[in-house]
Amino acid sequence: MSHKPDPNKNVNLTINGQPVTVPEGTRILDAAKKVNVHIPVLCDHPDLCRRALCRLCVVECDGRTKLLSACGNDVWEGVKIETNNKRLLEIRKTILELILANHPQDCLSCIRNRNCDLQSLAEEFGIREAPFGITAVNLPSSIEEETIVRDMDKCIKCGRCVEACQEVQTIRAINTSGRSGEFGICAPYGQALNETPCVFCGSCVEVCPVGAIYEHDQSAQVFAALQGKAAQESDQRTIAQVSPAFADMLASELTVAEGAITSGKMIAALRLLGFDQVYDAYIAANISNSEINEEVLQRTKKLPVISGCSQGVSRFVKTFYPDLTDHLSTAYSPQKVFAETIKSIYAASEDLEESNITSVSFVHCLAQKYGCDNKKEFALTAKELARMIKLAGIDIASLSEEPFDIIEMPIHDGKTDSVQKQVINGFAQARKILEAVRKGECNAKWIEIESCTGSFCK
Ligand code: SF4
Ligand code: SF4
Ligand code: FES
Repeated sequence: MSHKPDPNKNVNLTINGQPVTVPEGTRILDAAKKVNVHIPVLCDHPDLCRRALCRLCVVECDGRTKLLSACGNDVWEGVKIETNNKRLLEIRKTILELILANHPQDCLSCIRNRNCDLQSLAEEFGIREAPFGITAVNLPSSIEEETIVRDMDKCIKCGRCVEACQEVQTIRAINTSGRSGEFGICAPYGQALNETPCVFCGSCVEVCPVGAIYEHDQSAQVFAALQGKAAQESDQRTIAQVSPAFADMLASELTVAEGAITSGKMIAALRLLGFDQVYDAYIAANISNSEINEEVLQRTKKLPVISGCSQGVSRFVKTFYPDLTDHLSTAYSPQKVFAETIKSIYAASEDLEESNITSVSFVHCLAQKYGCDNKKEFALTAKELARMIKLAGIDIASLSEEPFDIIEMPIHDGKTDSVQKQVINGFAQARKILEAVRKGECNAKWIEIESCTGSFCK
């Protein structure tokens, strides 16, 4: 029988000669952090369980030849751990050289350039040569539903994405396949993601340490729409909606201090990029919420009403709980409200054809890209807006504050009662509540499912 660690019991050990005391059950990696000893990791992720696949974090314990992974093993009483001797550094460097031998050498054109764990480690270990040669083969990348790109020749087989999809989100759209050199990540039978139960939540993207799974970048298409207008296509308009809170996400992507970019500066930057109107995303969210609220009040059966942050939520319900499909809200999402309702009101006020208007929603999460038409309607994340701002050479922090544009909306008058909605984060939690709905054990009238668990994209 395996011993269950007692977190109330302390364990004493040394790491590189430094004494440290930690609760029983602490991983070697976390004990090392306590005495500011850095052990490099590649497959480990703080929000995923232990996999210990890459072996980069191996350490020596009590001088034994056999090495242990620091991410996959707990400390024990009296152990003397070495983390950084010559032998360990050479082993780590060799592991990295072997991974790099099988990795495309196109960092400059990779979407994760300067934001890649493998690249940072190669730099940290001073890797300048390729002693094992380069055997990487370039495979075509696949764009999935204009939301996620898979570029499997960059995969380092860390298994993070599979864990996030299978264990955290409980979707099981992707899996490992093959063994040894053939080991890889794929959807069953090599299918495209839309042929699997994938809900386009983006959790796999959030945890991938390299450029093997990433969000589909549509900033160039939006840029082109803005430039088309500048090129005297005077009947073309591009309108944006963004929430004030998006400014903090943008600051993080532009690596400036939180607070240095206010919503007023962000609005000014969007106008400089060429957006004709910039609306507060609250307007569309309010309309969408009012419509669902109304729907809840009108319904006498098929309660609770189920709504979601993205169209992936509806896909989830239809795939895994088809008997609850009638519970799905028929109201538009905030992005659709913006793309349909606000666009039409704006077009009428300017005496323009709706087809001349491109609407862009700036969204907090990649999941909200799924389901946009991507011709005249886009959803862009903070990463994509940051790229546009950099490309346009806008020094956003130096801009003066500007207000949102105002639009007259035939908005819900708010006279009806407001229904409390129960917000669920992630699909594992969603399963629990939908099981309760099935059994008639859920008293909520309105359930909103957010794709994101809230942990990966903090
Ligand atoms: S987007 Fe979500 S459901 Fe689809 S493969 Fe990635 S983690 Fe799985
Ligand atoms: S796709 Fe990314 S997260 Fe998944 S195994 Fe490959 S490198 Fe790891
Ligand atoms: S980080 Fe520990 S084995 Fe990969």
